[in-house]
Amino acid sequence: MRKCFSTCARQLSHENPLVSLVSSHFHSNTHYRLVAPKHHPGPVLNPPNPRNANKYSKGLPRKGAPPTLPRMQRGLPQKRKLRNVAHTIAVSSAKGGVGKSTLAVNLALSFSRHGLRTGILDTDIFGPSVPTLLGLSDVSEPKLTGQNMLVPLTSYGLRSMSMGYLLPNEAAPVAWRGLMVMKALQQLLHEVDWSPGLDVLVLDMPPGTGDVQLTIGQQVELDGAVIVSTPQDIALKDAVKGVGMFRKMNIDVLGMVQNMSVFVCPNCQTETKIFAHSHDDVGGLGGAEAKATDLGVDFLGDVPLDPNICADADRGMPTVVAEEASGKNVNSQYYERIAEKVAQKIGLGWA
Ligand SMILES: Nc1ncnc2c1ncn2[C@@H]1O[C@H](COP(=O)(O)OP(=O)(O)OP(=O)(O)O)[C@@H](O)[C@H]1O
Ligand SMILES: [Mg+2]
Repeated sequence: MRKCFSTCARQLSHENPLVSLVSSHFHSNTHYRLVAPKHHPGPVLNPPNPRNANKYSKGLPRKGAPPTLPRMQRGLPQKRKLRNVAHTIAVSSAKGGVGKSTLAVNLALSFSRHGLRTGILDTDIFGPSVPTLLGLSDVSEPKLTGQNMLVPLTSYGLRSMSMGYLLPNEAAPVAWRGLMVMKALQQLLHEVDWSPGLDVLVLDMPPGTGDVQLTIGQQVELDGAVIVSTPQDIALKDAVKGVGMFRKMNIDVLGMVQNMSVFVCPNCQTETKIFAHSHDDVGGLGGAEAKATDLGVDFLGDVPLDPNICADADRGMPTVVAEEASGKNVNSQYYERIAEKVAQKIGLGWA
């Protein structure tokens, strides 16, 4: 039975407008969505009703009932494979806005187009982009399984999960402190039902080198990380930090991608390097390629700056799908090449 969440939300909202990510009273086929009461602009926490303490004990932490740290975080962190996932890669960069999410989604779609069972997990709790990129910002109502696992949403044959699916609307800010974020991250990492199984899961990472990155690095057996940078020095400096962070956590850096490497004029086909970088003269290498060489990291490829990539992302039809639909192969070739290299590096066949 498809049970509209609004009933449950009414029941819960007076005590917790945020509502559990995974609440034990929801059963399989039950859809749900975080619903804030009208007077709340977004997820703002109210004290829980103590009478329901057990009933809703599995959800996101509520004010007044501080979340306990998961057991594994008290002792030495233990890395483990995500359930039903054969390979996991992270798409990361310490720098914000360099195109991590766009690359992550297009890589995932490239994997999927080559016959790999693929999922994407948006680990950006504050600024989830995957719902927009996959055209799922309005239709998102994840169900729960009988075991209270979130059922991923599917778009273009790609399974996905994101904090964005759990918010009442796109504009709702997530104004949380660290423990709340960690609790949500735990649930996104360990309480999503990827059965019958994925060959590869792509993690779209938030910017920075903070809690989320460290938790993922400490808890998840990653096959490796792809570091994204734009060519200019200021972005490369942060990309270097990203590489350093993964190395410190003994996670393989699969390589670097240079996004927005060059702008090709659609009228005259002239190539312009919009973002200047001090490595321009070094053997003709782009900034990220030269930096990758410096760091002893493989260079996985360039993606040009093309307004169509941005437009495709904004309309919820990523370039790999958009070009497939229009029979073009202008930019998808760049994503495909990078995806092929990554697949080979993590031991996946490429059909
Ligand atoms: N190669 C490209 N050409 C043109 N636009 C691009 C390209 N790559 C990404 N963009 C655009 O740049 C913007 C930022 O991209 P995106 O959201 O993927 O970055 P991000 O690194 O994930 O950001 P954040 O750090 O906020 O998570 C988006 O508008 C996206 O459409
Ligand atoms: Mg992003």
